[in-house]
Amino acid sequence: MSTLLEQIRAREWFYAYELPDGTRAPTYHGGELDAVHDTRWSMVEQALNAHFGDDWQALRALDLACHQGYFAVQLARRGCREVLGVDARAQHVEDSRLIAEAYGLGQASFMAGDIHALEPSALGRFDVVMMLGLLYHLENPVGALRTCRALCNDLCLVETQLVPGMSGPVDFGSYRFVKPLQGAFGLVDETQETHGPEASVTGICLVPSLEGLLWLLEKVGFREVTVLQPPADAYEQLKFGKRVMVAARV
Ligand SMILES: C[S@@+](CC[C@H](N)C(=O)[O-])C[C@H]1O[C@@H](n2cnc3c(N)ncnc32)[C@H](O)[C@@H]1O
Repeated sequence: MSTLLEQIRAREWFYAYELPDGTRAPTYHGGELDAVHDTRWSMVEQALNAHFGDDWQALRALDLACHQGYFAVQLARRGCREVLGVDARAQHVEDSRLIAEAYGLGQASFMAGDIHALEPSALGRFDVVMMLGLLYHLENPVGALRTCRALCNDLCLVETQLVPGMSGPVDFGSYRFVKPLQGAFGLVDETQETHGPEASVTGICLVPSLEGLLWLLEKVGFREVTVLQPPADAYEQLKFGKRVMVAARV
């Protein structure tokens, strides 16, 4: 019978997990995406250290769209009291459980769930809510941000791809009612790719502009909404502001 680590190494993964015995999980992208994961983890770690200090033992954390559990596992390894990962794809939930078991992380659990169907009252509140790499795959991003707010009692990190913004006055029914535009959404079609492990589950994707994202986070009830500074060696999309990580407080 193969060991857990042998089972992990026998497959290819989205994340190049460094396994407890020092070996690495092979990836299906040949390492091309390691930089985006590394940059985002370093930004998460910096944001949590800045907000909570480096002792995370009191924290209850939620990783929305956890995929194979990378960020949830990192939080658990850094000492969070409890970590829950949620993903729409059942296979990702199984994979996340396998990885957490290999690390012996009893405080990390995983469940299948579509963010649009989550019942915040059934999950309770979390000190940290992370929603990385999800918003721009959704057909109801505003609803997802409301869900983040309902689940959060302290700090929320949202990381997303952006589209260029639009601004200016809009005649709202008549020239007498002119409204300033608060941002924009771009429509992206993933309807032919919903089988993909990283894709939208419906294929209809609304990608926000930065102005729109910041405005929406405040409108759904967050305060102190801040765009986090990427590190000097950041993955190119974060470096050039084509995607951002935003911190928001309750
Ligand atoms: C680009 S991956 C990002 C994964 C991870 N959060 C990260 O940043 O590395 C998008 C993830 O969102 C999940 N997903 C897509 N639509 C979802 C939905 N409506 N609710 C929950 N998860 C969803 C996918 O299964 C996939 O794991």
